[in-house]
Amino acid sequence: MNYQIKILEDKIKESLKDLGFITDTVTINPSNRPELGDYQYNGIMPLAKKYQKNPVEIANTLVNILKDYPELKEVSTAGPGFINLTFSDKFLIDFLNSSLKDITINYKSDTPPKTIFLDYGGPNVAKILHVGHLRSANIGEALKRLCQVIGHKTICDVHLGDWGRPMGMVILEIKTRYPNIAYFNENYHGEEVDFTLTNEDLLELYPIATTKAKNDEKIMEEARKINYELQNKHPGYYALWQKIVQVSVNEVKKIYQDLNVSFDLWEGESNNFEYIDEMMEYLYGKNIVEESDGAKIINVKLATDTKEMPPLILIKSNGAASYEATDLAAIWERTKKFNIDEIWYMTDKRQELHFTQVFRASLKSGITTNKLKFVFNGFGTMNGPDGKPFKTRDGNVMPLSNLLDMVTEECEKKLLPSITENRLEIAKTIAIGAIKYADLLPFRTTDYNFDLKKFIDLNGKTGTYLLYSTIRMKSLLKKAEEKNLVFNTIEDVNNPSIHKIIVTMLDLKRIINRSFENCSLNEICEYLYKITNLYNNFYSEYKILTEKNNILKTSYLSLTKAIYLNNCYLLNILGINIPEKM
Ligand code: ARG
Repeated sequence: MNYQIKILEDKIKESLKDLGFITDTVTINPSNRPELGDYQYNGIMPLAKKYQKNPVEIANTLVNILKDYPELKEVSTAGPGFINLTFSDKFLIDFLNSSLKDITINYKSDTPPKTIFLDYGGPNVAKILHVGHLRSANIGEALKRLCQVIGHKTICDVHLGDWGRPMGMVILEIKTRYPNIAYFNENYHGEEVDFTLTNEDLLELYPIATTKAKNDEKIMEEARKINYELQNKHPGYYALWQKIVQVSVNEVKKIYQDLNVSFDLWEGESNNFEYIDEMMEYLYGKNIVEESDGAKIINVKLATDTKEMPPLILIKSNGAASYEATDLAAIWERTKKFNIDEIWYMTDKRQELHFTQVFRASLKSGITTNKLKFVFNGFGTMNGPDGKPFKTRDGNVMPLSNLLDMVTEECEKKLLPSITENRLEIAKTIAIGAIKYADLLPFRTTDYNFDLKKFIDLNGKTGTYLLYSTIRMKSLLKKAEEKNLVFNTIEDVNNPSIHKIIVTMLDLKRIINRSFENCSLNEICEYLYKITNLYNNFYSEYKILTEKNNILKTSYLSLTKAIYLNNCYLLNILGINIPEKM
């Protein structure tokens, strides 16, 4: 909770105590009837019930005391015992001025910091990076930044899909096309090989390789064999695989850089694989691995389950370790290497069962205890404009890079003609802002439809609107600076528009806390729009730079500065960069 609000809440609690009413906490919230007050306190009714007193009477007595609080301008009782509170000018001035000194006070929490491990991105090596991976990257990155501004420590892993049968298929396809390259020579022992492989090659190869294997059992068997040998570090296959991973990762890194997405660790399923034997030995020791149709499984059903809960398959009947096994091994590895309080996963919500099984197996086996909190942050799908999975015109999966290019092109058309340099770069920054905002605006689990026109509408609830408005604030401040004006404090807030803007700003900490609790950025997106809109209304109402009264002029500019700094801070949490102009 905002500390100014918290101080006020504690004071109300004390006043209630003086009146003989003891309550654990007092919470005041933004009013849902702003015409009656800025905030409201709804705690009187339960208190009256507890003490078997008339709520309106308690409310009236409390209101009489609150009237003398310097923090409040107006206080009134409403209905069966609600209390409406309107803040005093001094209270709002003090709050805004401390925000101007240090904007981070509205974000930092006083709860003890935790170490949170975030697993997001999850691109698959050699495979096209598609819009599903966009969501994981956007949401994961924003949640990481949110954790950090609150004061938590984060460790982030991209968790590559770099292991398993598709790798065997891709290697087999390369072998079929180029049987003579040194990797396939029996005597190969790790020397440098003159073989050029590009990401385009991989994107072309991958679908062909997988389709061939799916349609031909003999090819599939061959791919399985290669994969098996790869996992046993066959020198040629292993070296080629490393090359494939490198080419893919370089490409993915470029796209992530554009998206402002970064990681501490570039680990993947192949790293987890290194721990599987060790982990299996441990699990056998715990006597919880069962045999079922040739597979090794762990039963993760609980007596309380109402839905079906299939057992977790660790080792498939063909001897291969499963996706579940790699994730369990990832937990094994992470908890051994780091001292972590929570692990968060950001994937499509369709992977929920997989993670439920893994979390349960981890607890049941004692790999982790209840002290470690697992959080599965599943997300909904971004669909095409028709509400069906996003496709290109010819019906294929839309590569992420094409999507970025398409939106950049449209944003470029909207740039001011006077911008002659770096148009494409600026357009790209705006396009990414627009995509990210649209992606983070719906509640995490909600599906949404991609709608280019809507997403870049300068007058809509969009990233472009927010960027445009924030740039305009900056340019106003720059003009003021050029006139040598100084604006670091607000002195006069006796104006309904300003009053409302600062009251909205007071609510920021609650929004931040709720976003953290829900692991969703939707409320931050809504909040950014709300405060920007309120500010823009004020901006069009008042001629800031030509204001004659100096106290008012300074106050207007200081308010602008606070909103500007705060918008930058919030956009940064969302992973959105602000261009110089647009
Ligand atoms: N590579 C996976 C996919 O494309 C996502 C990985 C998610 N993280 C994990 N630890 N399983 O679906």
